Amino acid sequence: MKAVVTGAGRGIGAVIAGRLAAEGAEVVRLDLDGPAGTHRCDVGDAAAVAALASEVGDVDVLVNNAAIWRFAPLEEVTPDDFEAVLRVNVVGAFNCTQAFGRAMLRRGSGAIVNIISIAAPLADPGVGAYSASKAALLALTRQVAVEWGPRGIRCNAVGPGFVPTPGTSFYDDPGVRDARSAAVPLRRLGTPDDVADVVAFLASERASYVTGQALYVDGGVSQSLMEQLPSPGGDGARAAQGAAR
Ligand SMILES: NC(=O)c1ccc[n+]([C@@H]2O[C@H](COP(=O)([O-])OP(=O)(O)OC[C@H]3O[C@@H](n4cnc5c(N)ncnc54)[C@H](O)[C@@H]3O)[C@@H](O)[C@H]2O)c1
Repeated sequence: MKAVVTGAGRGIGAVIAGRLAAEGAEVVRLDLDGPAGTHRCDVGDAAAVAALASEVGDVDVLVNNAAIWRFAPLEEVTPDDFEAVLRVNVVGAFNCTQAFGRAMLRRGSGAIVNIISIAAPLADPGVGAYSASKAALLALTRQVAVEWGPRGIRCNAVGPGFVPTPGTSFYDDPGVRDARSAAVPLRRLGTPDDVADVVAFLASERASYVTGQALYVDGGVSQSLMEQLPSPGGDGARAAQGAAR
């Protein structure tokens, strides 16, 4: 099995690449930068992605993981920044899907996993185009699943919650780590391995009847709105709930 992982130079992508390799795949690591063996390629550059795809040849699995984000209040986001985020997170995933998907279509098999975020279904204030980009990638996931499903290709999305990585250095602040851990029903932050486990499953034959789905690897935080609010049963009800954990 041959797998391409984008944004594999560090963070979650590097761990996904390692996991697929450990499970026996020949892994092509693609990134702007990264350790030796990484193919330098900007996913937003369609011509560069197409050239790499012809060099790499047939692949069985594509993981669209590369992404960027820029913090700013919405009223201060520049058009250039908004576009830059969409260019990598949406157009980049599309470029790779099209370029590596052609060989999958020819062979009539393949699995694509798009790394979205809990910011796809939920607003993520202060991160400009990020939520919009991940919601668009979720929509693209469904479109690929339906349009290419009859031709043997599955496409699913994995949405991480709060995962400390080099790209999320704000978790270096213990205050942020503690506050976010406390908001998660499973009471911890996620790890790249948590995400890689689910990606490896969706990429494998074990998920051969799963397509068009989004699976959130977030310790339950995307379901926890009611827990964040005062309980109609008062503090006692919350305390009992906490004690039951
Ligand atoms: N870490 C989290 O808490 C979290 C939460 C939700 C979703 N995600 C998603 O998980 C994925 C990985 O995030 P991470 O935290 O590991 O990020 P990261 O910044 O640590 O790693 C991202 C990698 O993508 C690469 N990349 C960026 N632009 C690229 C481009 N144009 N072409 C090729 N490579 C490019 C970077 O060089 C980097 O190596 C992203 O899709 C992100 O949106 C992360």
